[in-house]
Amino acid sequence: MLNKVVIGNQKMNLTASQTRRFINAFVPLVEHANCEIGICVPYTNLATCKRALKETKIMFGAQNVSEFERGAYTGEISSAMLADIGCKMSLVGHSERRKIFSEQNSQINNKIKQNLKYNITSILCIGESKRERTAGTTKNVICKQLDECLSGLYENELEKIIIAYEPVWAIGTGQTATAKQIEEAVKIIREEISRLYTEIAGKNIVVLYGGSVKADNVKMFAGIKSLNGFLVGGVSLEAQSFSDLIHNFIGKSK
Ligand code: 13P
Repeated sequence: MLNKVVIGNQKMNLTASQTRRFINAFVPLVEHANCEIGICVPYTNLATCKRALKETKIMFGAQNVSEFERGAYTGEISSAMLADIGCKMSLVGHSERRKIFSEQNSQINNKIKQNLKYNITSILCIGESKRERTAGTTKNVICKQLDECLSGLYENELEKIIIAYEPVWAIGTGQTATAKQIEEAVKIIREEISRLYTEIAGKNIVVLYGGSVKADNVKMFAGIKSLNGFLVGGVSLEAQSFSDLIHNFIGKSK
């Protein structure tokens, strides 16, 4: 059976002290959950996570990383800096970064390569816009994102990659993709990884869905056998709701 994984992307919402309070409330609620759990927080909250999550199995990560190794890149944070404070994962290529900060697949590819150098898992976010879905180009968009973002990577490096399928139109809109749409997208992702690498690689890669997932609708997706879990935005900001979502997922997918 696939590993179950739920990761929260708290975006630019909580301060470090609010994150500490979130963790204090969240940990007891999910301590015994049979699921890998992580939260991706602003850079300034990483040290707090490291301290507050020390005695737990909950992972923490960044929401972005620089595509550069080091040097005159004011305001950037490198993979080496993340690794040095014990951060073992980071989102890359979130649609908000693609859309608002014009991030390109080639830059995301560089970020993944930087992360690999420092043993950091990249959660690669991909997904089509509403216009692309309506135009019937979802498969092309997803495959192009995968091909370009994973360019030059070796199969053994896929252990450090998680794919998050997040259709842009489902993020923060309350409009989730249907279970059928998610299943189709996950199939496209696994087939493309198989084509680029091997069938085993396509089978083993961890794939998450993100976009308006909540405690009540997660049950509809929990039965998708090819899906490992979820990348959760808004609901990951509140301990009880996030924990309810996790328990509904693992309860349903036993
Ligand atoms: P929402 O769960 O708020 O739709 O956000 C999803 C997301 O962007 C996770 O990365």
